[in-house]
Amino acid sequence: MNLKKLNRIAGYVCMLLFCLSVGVKAQVTKPDINKVLHVAEEQYKSYLKLYPNAALYPRSVNKDGSIRLVKSKDWTSGFFGGNLWYMFYLTRKGKWKNEAIRHTETLENEKYNKTTHDLGFVLYNTFYKAYHTTHKNSYKEVLLEASRSLSSRYNPKVGAIRSWDFKPFKYPVIVDNLMNLEMLLWASKVSGDSSFYHIAVSHADVDLKYRFRPDHSTYHVLDFNPASGELIKKQTFQGYADSSCWARGQAWAIYAYTFLYRETRDSKYLVQAEKAADYFLSQTDLSHDPIPFWDFNDLEIPNVSKDASAAAVVASGLLELSTYVVAQKRYYEKAQAILSALCTDEYLARAGTNQYFLLKHSTGHRPHHDEIDVPLIYADYYFLEALYRYQHYKNLKDVL
Ligand code: GLY
Repeated sequence: MNLKKLNRIAGYVCMLLFCLSVGVKAQVTKPDINKVLHVAEEQYKSYLKLYPNAALYPRSVNKDGSIRLVKSKDWTSGFFGGNLWYMFYLTRKGKWKNEAIRHTETLENEKYNKTTHDLGFVLYNTFYKAYHTTHKNSYKEVLLEASRSLSSRYNPKVGAIRSWDFKPFKYPVIVDNLMNLEMLLWASKVSGDSSFYHIAVSHADVDLKYRFRPDHSTYHVLDFNPASGELIKKQTFQGYADSSCWARGQAWAIYAYTFLYRETRDSKYLVQAEKAADYFLSQTDLSHDPIPFWDFNDLEIPNVSKDASAAAVVASGLLELSTYVVAQKRYYEKAQAILSALCTDEYLARAGTNQYFLLKHSTGHRPHHDEIDVPLIYADYYFLEALYRYQHYKNLKDVL
């Protein structure tokens, strides 16, 4: 072969490589919503056939492979009803609305529960959607009663709502607690009772003061002296170490500071949401999988479990956050990348497997050796929510 011919072939190869690289770059993988809906239709149909009473709620999978069902007082009881609402919103099929209503109404008694900070997870995820969809006053009243119960856990000395009642903590305020403030902010708007607003904002401000390290990673638990209101300790309960960053805790912060900005328009919350998001994304960018390990600082990485639930919470939060900031495109694309990864066979279950859950590979409570690398109902909830937000991105404010 002469030199001229060789040069020509080399030219063709270069051109081909360039076209391929442009093609690859331009080709954005989008989440396959239809694939998810197909899996969800099958999983939920089978689950409801087996458990028709709506008296227990699916949470996760036990070590022996059986499904873990919980009572209404469990912090996760509201997610399945929430998923059924999202199935209705995503498909507009009336059967999902009927099931959503059944799995909402059986939770009602929790509105009197003053022993937990989780009433937003339990009741707002369900009754807010029931009220928003049907405009039935009784659903609104449930949420107002629940907001009174949640407010009863507020201590003005600390300026925050107490998260847990168990020892060794004195007055623990955990990052997850922020999520339940959305119900209070809503309750203030619909009732005109500003005390709900003041409690929520005071809690958020105390959290903002102590929660973040200089790199904008989060501590899990802030423990206070309830008599003086002084901070005693910053530590963890569900993370790897007091000094580490638990991935789901960081996800809760991103999601919550974003809605705190939406509801108050106070830019300090938006700034914090962005910084927390940038920290999260800087950690996941390092590994070529947008789904994080359960804690960013586990010394055994990469030989530890992932947490799809943290990824789903962040995807949903980033979609909203993207609409408020200059870095809109970046956050939108990251959310899209996370959702696309969750739609692959690596994370999305095949219908008929995974005990009726959608996503695999979440981590609940690793330090307690519980729910490690399992499906979790709240991973599915934020996944469906994020897909719904993604589907309605152009009019996102109408579906928040
Ligand atoms: N709110 C409890 C958890 O995130 O595991």
